[in-house]
Amino acid sequence: MDTEQTPPDEKAMVELLSKAGYSERAINYYLEKLNVGIIEDAEAVESYKGLCGDSMRIYLKIAEGVVRDAKFQAIGCAGAFASGSALTEMVKGKSLEEAQGITGEDVVEHLGKMPGPKLHCARLAVDALRKSIEKYRKEHEEQ
Ligand code: FES
Repeated sequence: MDTEQTPPDEKAMVELLSKAGYSERAINYYLEKLNVGIIEDAEAVESYKGLCGDSMRIYLKIAEGVVRDAKFQAIGCAGAFASGSALTEMVKGKSLEEAQGITGEDVVEHLGKMPGPKLHCARLAVDALRKSIEKYRKEHEEQ
């Protein structure tokens, strides 16, 4: 007899997330793990731990004050991953000032919809991005 539990398949996962209040785009980002990873030669790297205890590290390729590429790693929920994917997409091609101006609300707007209690996950991503840019500026602009 097979007593091993099979993990929920993708369809069940999509249904679950959809019922919880995630948009289709947020679910796709989460499942695709869009922009999850490391940039080995990143100009900016910093981590941030949110009040929920989850954390995110953002990697940025920066040239002439513009974000050329962005990736992230996270320990967190589906909302954290969807937000990290959204933010790293949104930030590409933006100046550092523009990138720093992105808010959690902008991230949620890009995603379309997130469950109410998960809005702080978007803020976790934004705070991690800001930390990363702040660190870069400290190292490069205040010498
Ligand atoms: Fe912590 Fe979503 S619950 S980032």
